[in-house]
Amino acid sequence: MKLTSAQVALLGETISLTPRAGWFPVYNPADAGVLAYVQEHTADDTRTAIAAADKAFPAWSGKTAKDRSIILKKWNDLVLKHKEEMALLVTLEQGRPIKETHGEVTYGASFIEWFAEEAKRAYGRTIPATLPGKHLQTIKQAIGVCAAITPWNFPISMITRKVSPALAAGCTVVIKPSEETPLSALVLLQLAKQAGLPEGVINVVNSTKAAEIGGVLTSDPRVKKLSFTGSTPVGKLLYAQCAPTMKKLSMELGGNAPFLVFDDAEIDAAVEGALASKYRNSGQTCVCANRLIVQSGIYDSFAARLTERVRELKLEEGWKEDATLGPLINRKAIDKVQHLVDDAVKKGAHVELGGKAHDLFYEGTVLTNVSREMELFDTEIFGPVAPLFRFETEEEGIAMANDTPFGLAAYAYTRDIGRAMRVAAKLQYGMVGMNDGLISTEVTPFGGVKESGLGREGAVEGLEEYLSIKYISYGGLGAI
Ligand code: SIN
Repeated sequence: MKLTSAQVALLGETISLTPRAGWFPVYNPADAGVLAYVQEHTADDTRTAIAAADKAFPAWSGKTAKDRSIILKKWNDLVLKHKEEMALLVTLEQGRPIKETHGEVTYGASFIEWFAEEAKRAYGRTIPATLPGKHLQTIKQAIGVCAAITPWNFPISMITRKVSPALAAGCTVVIKPSEETPLSALVLLQLAKQAGLPEGVINVVNSTKAAEIGGVLTSDPRVKKLSFTGSTPVGKLLYAQCAPTMKKLSMELGGNAPFLVFDDAEIDAAVEGALASKYRNSGQTCVCANRLIVQSGIYDSFAARLTERVRELKLEEGWKEDATLGPLINRKAIDKVQHLVDDAVKKGAHVELGGKAHDLFYEGTVLTNVSREMELFDTEIFGPVAPLFRFETEEEGIAMANDTPFGLAAYAYTRDIGRAMRVAAKLQYGMVGMNDGLISTEVTPFGGVKESGLGREGAVEGLEEYLSIKYISYGGLGAI
């Protein structure tokens, strides 16, 4: 399927429908057809974008918070006004079913709305003085030029979750979107311009040479902060590259989410929670349940009910109304998922359902008799495969859940309030869904511990990431 005329109009000059020298193709993952061509920016273009952001910074940070808020609100309204075209655009360039991409647009817009409001609440403090004649104060100031390197799995919301707080705080930004999904970023840029965002406040750099662009963004001293969402190995590399210029960092990295189901869980709720957490976006989210860790007494009935529900998922091109599982992002993703399933089967896993690719699509899959030795215990699957591990005691379940260097999201289902509180406290994760399989919102702090990263996105904490605290001691004031 091709871009619609409304989408082409929204994208304007930022795309070409025919090949051009120095432009790269953007593919539809469902049929591997070319959707459009996008300009391949170079390291020099990236430096130009940083210079533009640097030039725009004094005027943008000098505006009142209310003035920035008004522009953000207009941007939010425009995104929602174009919800239909944008949802279909995400389906076309990322593959996700249309029912889910409507949610992606509203989820993305919710960050713009939230931070438009929070812009006005970047409060400092007055601290009781330690000596007479002094006034001690903190103020919060925009950090400066920020770089945002964003992934393909949520091509709208992962941009707005970083850029909206940056703009609200008074920062200017250079965005490097994933080369798999540059079109969503370009539409956001066009709408931000329409909303009245001044020249240079948001800059988008598109390239298939991520390492080259990342190298410029991490080494340029004019960039004061980097926010990255992606894999842990790339996050570690960027972290090291930022050290010489001591940039502030937010890193939303890989996960290996455990989904614990205790014998006393409400089984239907646990199955629905697992379905939402595991199969959303065909399993391609950092917070997807990666290891379903199920207590012995409920294991067989949970496996049977989950298999029944997964059988109902419809593997179809995302633009078809009844699609509930779309394609994976590319061939490499399919090969990785197949490798993990084959490894598990070789080591004794039973395939209850699925287990096969259909070209660029992967079947909703349930595996039982799964064990610690299988690669998928330690690897983020990023596909619609649910491996069901078995445990006996609460201590063993918690230990299995924590047995990973990652610490992004964890889930647990139990009807015992004491157990719920104990388990939530003991899980070594930045976020816990207790009897809840869908935890992401704009009003709560999203982020991980351990090798899942640093910093928080969304919520009041999300704004703090783009502000620096200045302490001012006013002396010699006399008696005040
Ligand atoms: C992610 O996969 O990085 C984001 C998922 C979410 O916001 O729910």
